[in-house]
This record gives sequence, structure tokens and C-alpha cells, in this order.
Amino acid sequence: MKKNVSKLLTVLLLLSCVSCGNQNNFEEYSFANAGFETGLLTNWTATGDAFSDNSVTIADSSKDKIHVVGNFYLNGESSGNAATGTLQSTTFKLNGNGKIGFMIGAGKNQSLVYVSLHLEDTGEEIGRVSNKFFNSENPNNRMYRIILNASEYIGENVYLKIVDNDAQNDGYNYIMVDDFIVSYLGDEDDGSLVSDARKYTEANKNNVGNEYRHTYHLMPTIGWMNDPNGFTYYDGYYHLFYQHNPYSSNWDTMHWGHAISKDLVVWEDAGVALAPDKTYDKLGVYSGGAIEKDGTLNLLYTCVGDGGVQQQALATSYDGYNFTKRASNPVISSSQRLNSRVTDFRDPYLFEKDGVYYTLIGGKLEGEGGQLILYSSKDLMNWKTIGSVYSSTLTGGGMFECPNLAFFGDKEVIITSPQSIRDSEISNYQNIHSVTYQIGDIDFENGVFTNEFGQDSMEEFDKGFDFYATQVISEEDRVIMLAWMNMWSRSYPTATDQWAGEITLPRELELVDGHIYQKPIREIENYYQNEVILSNIDANNENIALDFRGNTLHLKAEIDVSSLNGGKSGFHLFKGSDEETSIYYDDSLGMVVFNRKNSGVEIDSFDDDGELNVRYASIEPINDVIKLEFFLDVSSIEVFINDGYYTMSGLVYPSEGSDGVEFFATNGSATLNSLVKHDVIVGA
Ligand code: FRU
Repeated sequence: MKKNVSKLLTVLLLLSCVSCGNQNNFEEYSFANAGFETGLLTNWTATGDAFSDNSVTIADSSKDKIHVVGNFYLNGESSGNAATGTLQSTTFKLNGNGKIGFMIGAGKNQSLVYVSLHLEDTGEEIGRVSNKFFNSENPNNRMYRIILNASEYIGENVYLKIVDNDAQNDGYNYIMVDDFIVSYLGDEDDGSLVSDARKYTEANKNNVGNEYRHTYHLMPTIGWMNDPNGFTYYDGYYHLFYQHNPYSSNWDTMHWGHAISKDLVVWEDAGVALAPDKTYDKLGVYSGGAIEKDGTLNLLYTCVGDGGVQQQALATSYDGYNFTKRASNPVISSSQRLNSRVTDFRDPYLFEKDGVYYTLIGGKLEGEGGQLILYSSKDLMNWKTIGSVYSSTLTGGGMFECPNLAFFGDKEVIITSPQSIRDSEISNYQNIHSVTYQIGDIDFENGVFTNEFGQDSMEEFDKGFDFYATQVISEEDRVIMLAWMNMWSRSYPTATDQWAGEITLPRELELVDGHIYQKPIREIENYYQNEVILSNIDANNENIALDFRGNTLHLKAEIDVSSLNGGKSGFHLFKGSDEETSIYYDDSLGMVVFNRKNSGVEIDSFDDDGELNVRYASIEPINDVIKLEFFLDVSSIEVFINDGYYTMSGLVYPSEGSDGVEFFATNGSATLNSLVKHDVIVGA
């Protein structure tokens, strides 16, 4: 399956040459008011009703989505669908290469709505183009670059006519145009929402603010990210897709972003993979899985159509970069949802077992609770419903989102993201949504899950603030899990920097005696530098500043807590003159505490999200020792407690320069038996 030459790499290299620049010696020209930038129809002559000064529209906040060039464009919609007429430009000389490039949108009836080119002398029409990108499945109020090629007429005096002869009133019976360029040297657009998103990202990526950007965690190049999707290995790379809105730092119009990595630490943006461009997914391409089949990379995702109906669709790629949605979509329709609500049937997890493909899909039940339904397929196209493997009312009005299945020897572990489980116990279910695991066996033929510890027995993975919607892959010798390091219903300060969302450090999972331990992915060790080893530091009711600083640190500490006597001992991280994040063992509680109250810029909640700044993990010292391993990355901390018995993940927003580290003990004394520190440095 691994090939020597990566198809994906070849595609990426070829693509990077598209912008290598123009090789010929032409120049581009304009004519009077060719981009409608006077804000009026100055220098254009209208007949009929379709065009007036009112048609020249000022770009608003959707400028980038509509693809307006400059401040104004011509939008025939302002005269209504039924109006007809023409608009004629001034005469100009057809210079350069004889190609006229311009932006065109709407114009459903391509024989009645078009742009034509005419000889000044005779009025003879010498060229005509219409909106060939019009596609009834796309939102068509956006313009694409198109070319009218009249190179046989170079040097002639000519004029353009914008023509709307479509008197119908059933939508898009008008034309939008902008930015006519004579001797246009660029390429045409391909009219797809995927290339829109890729171009938008390329053009705007430098507008993203850097203050809180991580250095070794995956983040969107620009815009919003939520769930990781389709975690898989294909053609020499790990591929990770994710829920993505490139156009703003808020959740909206879900696309699939795509990143690739050789080692799960350094990620490369591989460009948007899926956009909501079909009738059945126009309200969003939601979470799902990925798998290789016969050399192709396949994505199974939730397509959200009119009325919020959720079904599952398949997209296939031959190069690992460009995906084609299959004609027979949706491949799992809402008729197969069993008793799930039609608008809550989502997040297929895709895997193969003994030569059969399976998917596990979450559904919200009509009453309370949720279920997980198992399907099988031989070809990824035709899916048989096996049955509901698990259902529960534990989630109340919520459901189990983003199911995953992990294989540990002959044990199967269901990992899901249950919504709305809360608990009065402070070390359990303190976020609005959680990630849990259930250990047992699945009968793949009859679709039955037997939980080894009792039907609803499940445990929460991460006791921090920001951990949701995992993706898991089971490799031959290890199971790897990663998650969205963020949480619904909160707002984070990076939003004003044009980005939001990140993925945790990938973790290796180990199942020991009915408990899953999480270990940092082993490849991260290749990025450890500047090792410092400290030992035997006693703190007696005091703070001890350690002799190093840093905001991209790996710290591995063992604290002897036998003399704490009800006190607290641990670390102040991201320490500045008046801020710090405290992570410590509280002997009176028997818990590790992650306190970000005084970390820096505060995180807000949209809902009444409870306590936002303190989290607890119940933990027992082993031979009087608490082990804390930290990964700091500019605005995030992940803690692995007692060799990964629990983790705590959280985002923090310290000021620049708040990068000190203190060891402390309050109301007692403790000994830092050992501490190993590394800087985690990627790309140096
Ligand atoms: C989980 C989730 C999924 C859904 C996706 C939409 O975070 O709600 O259930 O597919 O996000 O972006």
C-alpha cells in the first residue's frame, strides 16, 4: 500500500507552480469604468429595464464570498428577475492577447443571458460567453472568472454588450459581472466551491493574527475548525480532515479541511477537500471517516440537506487531494436511520474488519437519549443496516456524537462524544459535552455490543476543559487518538485573529486492567531540545522559580507528596508578573487541579456553561509520588497524570513574556524528586 512516489506530493508540487507567473510578454489593459468602480453606470449605455445606476452594487461583508473585485460590481438582481435589457461598454482597442477576462455570476438561462463582443464598425458579434459555471446545486450568487477569447481580432476596435433577455421570474434570471480586463493573462476559475475555499485561504492566510498560534498542534490556516475527521494513513502520509469554515472564525457552512503529516507532529495544509456544493449537502458537510480502498482514498461524511436532513455521502479521490462526490449519494439515506431523528443521524466512523467495511453512526432518539447504529458494506457504496449496537438515555436531550471504535487485541472499545452528561461530582463531566469510552465486545453479525462492565458503564477520558469529538485509528502495534482541543458554547480570543480551533497532540492509548491510559505520541520526542534535568528540590510553603523559561515546553515531573498533609503542590506555568496557570495536586481533595482563572485573557461562554476555569481529576499517588507530564504550546496545556491515567487539556491565553515556571507547595511541603524539561521545537 505504501508507494515510493507520493501522488499527493506530486499534486501539491504541481499546484504550487500554477502561480509561477505569466511567461509571455503581454500586458493587461482596462477601458473606462470596466470594473464599475465609479459606483454608477458611467461610460456604459443601457437599453431596456435590466440595468440602471442602481445595479451597480457596493460590496458588503460577503464581498469575498461573492468574489467582488474592488468596491463595486454590476448586480442585475437589483432590477428583479423578470427585467430584460442590455448594457453596452465604450469602444476600446482589443490589445495584447485578445482575451477578455471578467467575473460572471447568476444567468441561469445561458442562451438568453450572456456577454458578447462586437466590432465597432459593423456591430458584428465576434464572441459570446455565458455563465458556464451555473449549477443549480450551488449557491449561484457568486461570480467566477471567465474568459472571452477573441484573439483573431487583436487590434480591432470593439465594444462589449451585457445581455439579459430572460424575462422569467424563477430565480437567477439576471446577470452579475465585474472587473473586465483586456488582454487578460490569468486563468479561468473552475467554478467549484472547493477551489473558492482554497483560493480564499491562499489569498487571506497572512491576515491571521499570530499571537496565540501554536507551534506543534494542528490549527486551521485561516478560519474556524471543529471536529477532526477521517483520520487515516494513505499514500505515505497520515491524513487528517476536519470540520472547517475558512471564511470566518465562527462555525458556519461546514467544509472539510485537510492536513497531511509524515509523523503526526508536523502538519502541512493540503487544502480544503470538501465543500457544501450539492443539493444533498448544501447545508454542510459534517463529520465522518476515511479509508483506503484499491488505491483510492474514500471519505464517508454526513451530508446535511434541506430541512436539516442528515444522511451519509461518499467522496473518492485518486490523488489524495481532489475528491469527487459519488453520483449515487447519499449512500446511506435517512430511510436507514432506524428510530433516529431525521435531523440527528450523523458522524459515520469508517473501518475495515476481515475484508468487510463497517461504519458506526450516531443518532438522536425521538424521545430522550441516543444510539449507535452499525452498517456493513463490500464496496463502500451499498450499505446494509446491521442494527443499533448501543442506545441509552444517559445523554437526555443530546446524543452520542462522533463515535469511534478502537481495537485492543480481542477487545473492542467504543469511544463517543456524549452531549449533555453533567455530574455534581467535581471531577466528572464538568464540560457541557464529554468524551467517554466503553469496553466490551461487538458481535458484528448481529450488531450487539456487550459492555464488560455493565450496559451504561463508561469513563471520561480527559478531565480538562477543551477536549471533544475524537478520531481514533488502530494500527498494528498501537491505537492513536486525537481530539478537537476546544469546547462548544465558548468563545476564545483567537476569533479576532481570524482563526479558532486546534487539535490535541495525538495520543497513544493503552488498555490496562479495564482502564485506558493515554501517552503522548512517541514521535514528539524527535522535537525535544535543550534538555534540563533537576532533582530533589524541596518546597516548604513557598514558590520556587525554576531556572528556565519557555512557552513551548515539555516537562516531566515526579513530586513526592508524602509530607503535604492536606496542602497543595505543583507548578505555576506561563508565569508572568501578574498571571499564571496553576496545575497541582491537592492533598485534601485527592485530586489534580488545573486552574486557569488567572492565566491571561479570559474565555467566555455563550450559555450558562458552569465553572469555566477550574477542573479536577481524582488521582491517587503511587508510592507517595504524583507524576505530571506537561505539553505547553503558546496557548495550550496538556497534562498527562500518573503515566496517562488521566489527561487534562486546556487552552490559556497568557500575555507575551509570561513564560516562567515555578514549583510550589502551599500549606505543607513537597519534594520535586525529578524534573526533565525540553523545549519542543518544530521546524527549526
Ligand atoms: C460535533 C459535531 C458533529 C457534527 C459536527 C458539525 O462536534 O456537532 O456531531 O458532525 O460537529 O460541525
